[in-house]
This record gives sequence, structure tokens and C-alpha cells, in this order.
Amino acid sequence: MDRNLALNLVRVTETAALQSAQHLGRGDKELADQAAVDGMRKMFDTINIDGVVVIGEGEMDEAPMLYIGEQIGKATEDSLELDIAVDPLDGTTAVAKGLSNAISVVAVGPRGSLLHSPDIYMNKIATGPKGVGKVRLDLPIEENLKKLSQALNKDISDITVTMLDRPRHDELIQRVREIGARIKLFQDGDVAAAMATCFEDSGVDIMVGIGGAPEGVLAAAALKCMGGEFQGRLHPVNEEERERCRNMGIHDIDKVFSIEDLAKGNEVMFSATGVSNGELLKGVVYRGNKTAKTYSVVMRAETGTVRFVDAIHRLDKKPEYAK
Ligand code: FBP
Repeated sequence: MDRNLALNLVRVTETAALQSAQHLGRGDKELADQAAVDGMRKMFDTINIDGVVVIGEGEMDEAPMLYIGEQIGKATEDSLELDIAVDPLDGTTAVAKGLSNAISVVAVGPRGSLLHSPDIYMNKIATGPKGVGKVRLDLPIEENLKKLSQALNKDISDITVTMLDRPRHDELIQRVREIGARIKLFQDGDVAAAMATCFEDSGVDIMVGIGGAPEGVLAAAALKCMGGEFQGRLHPVNEEERERCRNMGIHDIDKVFSIEDLAKGNEVMFSATGVSNGELLKGVVYRGNKTAKTYSVVMRAETGTVRFVDAIHRLDKKPEYAK
């Protein structure tokens, strides 16, 4: 894979973030999401790739752009054939309310490398590299925390577990408290939360719980690049969702997907840009003289390089950002 594609991916998430961040706090999550989708789609059209969206804004009849199965990129005969996973705005509610942790995300890999998943829930577990081969989604949380405490050489009371602040996690929260670990809840954005487990200074060691399946595939791609651990099991809530899994070729619905099942091989790339302020990435900052600053992270599984990219954009030279 052309390593310079990584820089183009940063352009894609930067554009989505710049478009979407204009709607911070305006109370309209659809508008914020649509702006991110438009920005992302426009930038993809300038890149020489033969891409197919495998994780996107929904199925064809649900989304006009970046729908699952859509061909994107400026394909020529020599273009790379790629799977594309996107979440133009992970944290639509966060942007609408002006809250933190929203990012724009994209992952790519050779055709066939990223899991095609319906937009339903997924039960997830994510840790940094020291948890690889130690934690397992199908083990009780108490077991996983014991194993992780040995791997990290930390007391369980020093381990921080992060998860979405949702009533469905009440029992899990209770059990983590009983075993004595620390908990950090967050409102939205479990791609960034899973990524945080791979940064020792983030202060979180493990992410668990149920979030979106598309976000699971994106997080797996990111953790693949960083050598972390990620496992997920689809969590359909009714027969209609089970049927959607089968329609996408997933027949063993109870299967625990490994990181390799979700993001196969060594050629996966990932980029994210902050939309609203988060612990990993700052959000878009609008500055004087029609300039804006973005904060991104881009990585490739092949080399494992994690590159933080700060960019200053001249909005007056980019008519699409004119207000
Ligand atoms: P959206 O941007 O689609 O709103 O997703 C935000 C998010 O927090 C994801 O990061 C997470 O996977 C999912 O929502 C959790 O779903 P729910 O809000 O239904 O608990």
C-alpha cells in the first residue's frame, strides 16, 4: 500500500472535522453529521483510489452518501482496491450539545480486509499492547481485570476501566466497583476511548461495554496499528437485527471477532481528527484571519508509526468552508 495514502486520509478527516465543527453547540446533530459526511465525501473524490464503503452512514436506502457498498475515490486503472470504513462524525450528540470527545474517523485496508458489519450494537473489549493474549471478551470482567493487573504489573485498584455512561452498563459498573478497580465513564465516542487504552499516559487501561458495531470496526483498525487488543461480539437486540447480520454474510452471530477478523492484515491505515475537544485530540479551533487549526492522528499497521498532525487551514483559500 502506498504509504502516502495516509496523508490523504488526514485530509479526509480534517475536512469532515472542519465542516462539522462549524455546528458545535447549535443543537442539531443531523446538520453536524451531514456537514461531516459532505466534507468527507468531497475529499475522497480527489484521491486516486478504487474504494468501496464497508462501514458507512447506513445501507443504500438509508443514506444518500457514504452508504455501505458505495464506490468512492477517483479510480483509474492503477488505483488501489480498498475497503473503506468511515464515521464522519463519531459523537453527533456531543457536537450538537457542544460537549467533548467528538472525532471524525476513517480506516482503509485492501479489499476484503475490514469486516462488513450492520449498524447495530457490539459488545467490546479493548486494551493496549500488554493486554494482547491476556484479556478475552468471553471471560467475566473480574477475570479480565485480574489478568490485566498481572500484565500491567499494577494492583487492580490502580486499573482504570472506561465505558460509555449508559444504563445498560449498570451491572458491569457494579461488578468493576466490587472488585475495586477505578472507573471512568464517558458520554459519547467509544472509538477515541478504545484508542486511549493504547496511550499509557491517557490514564485508562481497558475499555469494555456495548457501543456501535461500526465504531468497533474502526476502533479495531486503530488498535491494529498500535498493537493493542480488541475483540467484539455483535449484539443484535431483535430478530430484524439478526436478519441484517445474516444479510451481510454474518451467520455465526455469537462469534467473538478478533482484531484480525475485524481489521485483517498489516496494511490497514487509520486517521482521526478532533471535532470537539477530547483528551486524545483537541477539537477544531477557529482563529483570527479566517484560519482554523485541526489536530489529527494517523497511523499504519505496517510500521506502527503513530503520527500526530497539527494543521493550520486558510479558510479563505477553501471556498467550501465559507460561511
Ligand atoms: P453517534 O455519533 O452515531 O451518535 O455515535 C456516538 C456513540 O457514542 C458511539 O461512539 C458509540 O459507539 C455509540 O454512540 C453508542 O450508542 P448509544 O448512544 O446508542 O449508546
